[in-house]
Amino acid sequence: MKTEQTPTVVQRLDYTAPAFWIETVELAFDLDPAKTRVLNKMQVRRNPEVPAQPLRLDGEDLNLARVLVNGSGTSFKLDGGQLVLENLPEGPEPFALEIFTTCAPLKNTQLSGLYVSQETFFTQCEAQGFRRITYFLDRPDVMASYSVLLRADKAHYPVLLSNGNLVESGDLDDGRHFARWHDPHKKPSYLFALVAGKLVAREQKITSRTGKEHLLQVWVRPGDLEKTEHAMRSLMHAIAWDEARFGLPLDLERFMIVATSDFNMGAMENKGLNIFNTKYVLANQATATDADFANIESVVGHEYFHNWTGNRITCRDWFQLSLKEGLTVFRDQEFSMDMAGSASARAVKRIEDVRVLRTVQFAEDAGPMAHPVRPDSYVEINNFYTVTIYEKGAEVVRMQHNLVGKDGFAQGMKLYFERFDGQAVTCDDFVQAMADANPASPLAQHLDAFKRWYSQAGTPTVHASGVFDAQAQTYTLTLRQSCPATPGQSASAKQPFVIPVTLGLLDGQGKALPLQLQGLNVGTEHTLVLHQEEQAWTFTGITSQPTPSLLRSLSAPVLLDYPFTEAELLTLLAHDSDAFNRWEAAQRLSLRIATNAIAATAETATEKEQNPANLLPQSVVDALRLVLEHPQLDAAFKELVLTLPSESYIAEQLDSVDPQRIHSVREAMRRQLALALQPQWQAAYEAHAHTGAYQPEPIAAGRRALAGLALNMLCLAAQGDGVWAGKAYQRVKDAGNMTDKANALQALVQSASPLASNALDYFYRQLRHEPLVLDKWFALQAAAPDVQGSVLPAVKALLKHPDFVLKNPNRARSLVFTYCNANPGGFHRLDAAGYIFWADHVLALDAINPQMAARLARALDRWQKLAPPYREAAREAIARVAAKADLSNDVREVVARALG
Ligand code: PHE
Ligand code: ZN
Repeated sequence: MKTEQTPTVVQRLDYTAPAFWIETVELAFDLDPAKTRVLNKMQVRRNPEVPAQPLRLDGEDLNLARVLVNGSGTSFKLDGGQLVLENLPEGPEPFALEIFTTCAPLKNTQLSGLYVSQETFFTQCEAQGFRRITYFLDRPDVMASYSVLLRADKAHYPVLLSNGNLVESGDLDDGRHFARWHDPHKKPSYLFALVAGKLVAREQKITSRTGKEHLLQVWVRPGDLEKTEHAMRSLMHAIAWDEARFGLPLDLERFMIVATSDFNMGAMENKGLNIFNTKYVLANQATATDADFANIESVVGHEYFHNWTGNRITCRDWFQLSLKEGLTVFRDQEFSMDMAGSASARAVKRIEDVRVLRTVQFAEDAGPMAHPVRPDSYVEINNFYTVTIYEKGAEVVRMQHNLVGKDGFAQGMKLYFERFDGQAVTCDDFVQAMADANPASPLAQHLDAFKRWYSQAGTPTVHASGVFDAQAQTYTLTLRQSCPATPGQSASAKQPFVIPVTLGLLDGQGKALPLQLQGLNVGTEHTLVLHQEEQAWTFTGITSQPTPSLLRSLSAPVLLDYPFTEAELLTLLAHDSDAFNRWEAAQRLSLRIATNAIAATAETATEKEQNPANLLPQSVVDALRLVLEHPQLDAAFKELVLTLPSESYIAEQLDSVDPQRIHSVREAMRRQLALALQPQWQAAYEAHAHTGAYQPEPIAAGRRALAGLALNMLCLAAQGDGVWAGKAYQRVKDAGNMTDKANALQALVQSASPLASNALDYFYRQLRHEPLVLDKWFALQAAAPDVQGSVLPAVKALLKHPDFVLKNPNRARSLVFTYCNANPGGFHRLDAAGYIFWADHVLALDAINPQMAARLARALDRWQKLAPPYREAAREAIARVAAKADLSNDVREVVARALG
């Protein structure tokens, strides 16, 4: 929304209950792309607990035609978008309020409210889109019963859907028809949805444990039906899982998923009518990769799980967003892990989740947009659908899960639903229920301190040190915590967090040592709860210097500062029983070498750093070779261990970031691994390249992932010699599944092979009619290595490609966002042209879709860390965006915070 220069800041502590309740809503739509008419009849009642005041209804981009109170005209005012009604009936009785408005779905490029995508109507109401459909108390604590009447031209819009159950449908005059829907559950306005268009459904009837019948539908455009099998299967798995693990059944007769190719986010949990980005619904082996299949399972699960965590119990206000999102991400992560099966596959999923957390969320928490899991203020709520709310929020729930145990957590969930079903509540309410259900747990013991995870921003560091006393046969581990300042919160004002530290100790041979604490045998793995600034624990019966395996599975969202020796890390990599920490040891080994090499100047550089072809010492190369050749380890795990930390993760460890230097050091290390392990890469490729009939399951997916990495490395090592590039090119042509095909194409592009452009052309010609595949095609090119500054011109040329559409969020993400966010070597140019491109596109997108523009704006969040000359150039680009007169609140908030 375009508004004035100083947008209002919404404060969490300003929350007051609504002055009115809306009990029922009857909506009648006459759907027309140019001008849709909406009649909204509400039963409204004063909230007796709040002093009498005018009713202020939210509205945005609406044309108001008529307002009636109990059937008669009434006076009203329009005030900054709100409709203000002063002369309303006194007393506690409900009254009827009728509002007639029109809106223009075809002109809605923001994709919030009612919009048209490919001749089909969709709505998106979270967080504040309902006010773009009708005047309303558009806040999540106002929960109402909805009845919806949809009318539209039958030939153009044969399918008419809304929340709940279909009550009635039939034909009208002039080729029009109607459908009437009723939602049996009260809901906040952000969960309202309608869809109208030419769609077809895959259907499935299921019977729940209690014998109830349900109809499941996945609605897509005709022609996409054969790509819905996996989404339907994922939905059935999700329903069964929530019932088995948490005793939460499907509470609707009908549950629908609808796919749209124009969507700002991944998907939306509207009650009974989830609306999804096509990217998270459509898949077959020819168009979708293993990662796509896994993402679909996880997003279908996520939205389904919201039905209880989000919809049955919702948020009191948007500051509580993580109440539903953190909890639901935790649930979808657990779902994916349970579906993955083996312990090794669970660990792989955990590593992938942690990788996102640490590269993206830790960076957010250290930058200008850092905010607590429960923020204190916002300008634009859409800017707070962040990795902090989602991923860190999930970690905060995960810590509770680990502190009370799996059964204790189930008890806590049960109590949470007993207390709050049907209500709009707060993050505090959730933790309180967890603690009350587990009174003897460390969570209950340290509850107030634990809640600081919700109120204090920033990533804490745990500083660990261990002292082995040979005489006393003890090992004393001292843990100290600190947390840096974040916007509005000084470091000294921060109080200690409750940090569960899960650990084990390994002996010289890498064997797990039995742990004894205060005479008590606690097994070989134990969780210490650090709740003060500094605490120490003494393990007894330790006869030799142990190697500590700390923060197993990343038991808390913190950084670990411990002076590991290379020998210790090699021990952990080879032997730790915790797969996560094995992977972490490899990451630490290469990270340390990378950061040292990056920091080295001409004078301080070691011989190796001067000769970057051999940055990794032989010991590390050998250890990685052992992993790659290991007969027992899963391929998926090997692929993770053999992948170096990303450039952005490396950047986060440095005080001054020279993106080009990071890029060249990491590339040198990658090349070294490619060359040094060439025979092993070849063996790995040959062993894993052919996985038989395609199945998107973890073991086979892991084999494809390792084959993909191997092919990448072989193309990289063989530069000049075309044998491997030739094989990769052949694979682009022949591969029977998109995973192998895309990996082969990526191997050619990433090794800057002369065959890359032919392969890209082939891929395009073969798959140009598949929008989601085209997104991959654009993204691969936007992420290409920057050979002599070639990427930006290539990206600019692709902007003019007939298949490029900036308005389509998936397409914009694939080209523009990929270049700005996922190609640091190509983006951070000495001539600042990448930053100019960024500023141009933030502004261009802002005119179309402010939410998308604000997300792109965040690509330069970490500009303050950049070394000269990048830093100044980035600042100038941000300042140029900030200087634009009529910026959206979305972008203004981001750039204003970036400039500080
Ligand atoms: N609530 C959605 C989800 O997590 C995300 C979303 C937010 C979608 C806002 C659209 C708009 O699952
Ligand atoms: Zn969600």
